Amino acid sequence: MSGRKAELVEQVARIRDLDLRLLDRVSREALTLDRNWMVEYARWQSGNWQTMSLYNDSGDPSDVAIRDCEARETTVLEHMPATRELLRSFGLKYMWVRIARLPANTFLWEHSDYRDLADLERHRLHIPLHTNRSATLTLGGARVHLGYGSLWRLVPTNRHGACNLSGPDRLHIIMDCYADDTFRDLTSNLTLDDNDIQWLPEATDGEISAHLDEAVALGKLGYHQAAEHSLLKLFYQYSMPEGMGYDLVIRAYEMMGEHARAEQWRLEKKVKLCLA
Ligand SMILES: [Fe+2]
Repeated sequence: MSGRKAELVEQVARIRDLDLRLLDRVSREALTLDRNWMVEYARWQSGNWQTMSLYNDSGDPSDVAIRDCEARETTVLEHMPATRELLRSFGLKYMWVRIARLPANTFLWEHSDYRDLADLERHRLHIPLHTNRSATLTLGGARVHLGYGSLWRLVPTNRHGACNLSGPDRLHIIMDCYADDTFRDLTSNLTLDDNDIQWLPEATDGEISAHLDEAVALGKLGYHQAAEHSLLKLFYQYSMPEGMGYDLVIRAYEMMGEHARAEQWRLEKKVKLCLA
């Protein structure tokens, strides 16, 4: 395994295959959910990434802002017997479990997670329930597609982003759990196929300056959000140093003479990348 692939496996990896008959039932249950979807973490996304809780401390599926707790099943699992069976089968000590819907043309901007939580060892697992090849995580200079049929691990304290370019909706179960022997046994064999990975090229100076000029032109016309998104989306197109998308937004606003907006984005960068 190459050095950069080994580094990537440290950040995201396939744990093992799941029972497809059970997973198909879980997927059908998820696709018929029509209530309790919540838009949380709005600053972290381009819009409309929705979640619902399956395990938390209140039992309320619309309570979706994660925190350390002793989690129990939420009321929605009463109507999702296959999902309940699957989640119980791992024997993990859950902190929180959500189901997340990422619609077409939606982006979770570059960020790191767990910033405000206690200093405990916790881990994040993903189960794709409905997905497509344009739905990927971006991290470690690559885009990685989490395929249906497997259980995956993501280390979300590393910077990462997610996108679903073409649709249909990407539906994932996201399980935050505390470290214990069960977790360690479950994750003892991590792999990543080359087919799961799309390595991203580095941008040339000319490409960066062309994107910057386009964003400045949009901003001068008053399309501030379009300008910001055009630069933040470069994170999914190029392998870029940490926070470069945010730095480009700041530079664009400085070029426009919009210093207050530039200052606001300096703060956004610190918050999203846990630099504050
Ligand atoms: Fe995240």
